[in-house]
Amino acid sequence: MTRKSFHRDEIDTSKPHPARIYDYLLGGKNNYELDRAAGDRLAGAAPEVRAGVRANRAFLGRAVRHVVGTGVRQILDIGTGLPTSPTVQEIAREVATGVRIAYVDNDPIVNTYADALLAGSDGTGVVVGDLRDPAALVEHPDVRRVVDFDEPVALLLVAVLHFLTEADDPRRVVATLRDALAPGSFLVLSHATGDFADRREAQAVYDNASASLNLRTKAEVERFFDGFELLEPGLSEVPFWRPDAPPPTAPGEIGFYGGVARRP
Ligand SMILES: C[S@@+](CC[C@H](N)C(=O)[O-])C[C@H]1O[C@@H](n2cnc3c(N)ncnc32)[C@H](O)[C@@H]1O
Repeated sequence: MTRKSFHRDEIDTSKPHPARIYDYLLGGKNNYELDRAAGDRLAGAAPEVRAGVRANRAFLGRAVRHVVGTGVRQILDIGTGLPTSPTVQEIAREVATGVRIAYVDNDPIVNTYADALLAGSDGTGVVVGDLRDPAALVEHPDVRRVVDFDEPVALLLVAVLHFLTEADDPRRVVATLRDALAPGSFLVLSHATGDFADRREAQAVYDNASASLNLRTKAEVERFFDGFELLEPGLSEVPFWRPDAPPPTAPGEIGFYGGVARRP
């Protein structure tokens, strides 16, 4: 198990942070007044957002269960967020014991809650790192301690790429990570979209936050899967990616796309 501690005074409370806004929208307690105000503004601008984050989290669960069910035994979760029950390791280890997981987030607050992420588990690491520097993440010793890149990996980029601007060159970022993955690896990806409604007001909530919100169209999100083979049903609105039960929302209501793909 690998872990670093951060002190409270390293946590930036001067502006809303995506991890804490998301935690608030999911009903979590690890957030501050200005995160809650941003979350309320977001819900005012995009009333389906709470259902959206729950649907995104449910997609994450179904996708992780699927890829671990195919035999993958290591997960690289970039943009982990604050611990939300069930955590990725709880989901994965329900399917197979011994799944190793490296959690990466660029917000040190996630590291502060590492105890909750790591709870009693070997083969797990928490790393403060930035998706915008993918080569450094692949080489990071705490990632390497957990992930063997010669074996298939499930790479999770769930609800994180929309925090990268075009100037961050997110397609290059994903391609760099893809090229580090062994054949038989998987990409689990979800991304916010404005395809179904005008979301400029929702985006504006992030203007003062620690990262901007960059909505993308279905075609733009699909391009992140270049070099992978998308599994059925392809890139879908998250409630409709292999639902366990009839989705509680109609098509076009939830502004998140999700997909799972395999590296041949
Ligand atoms: C909306 S949360 C998603 C959490 C989790 N993946 C899920 O879908 O339930 C996005 C997370 O991505 C993190 N994040 C944003 N930009 C990042 C970056 N450039 N590098 C690493 N993490 C980032 C945020 O700190 C936040 O914890």
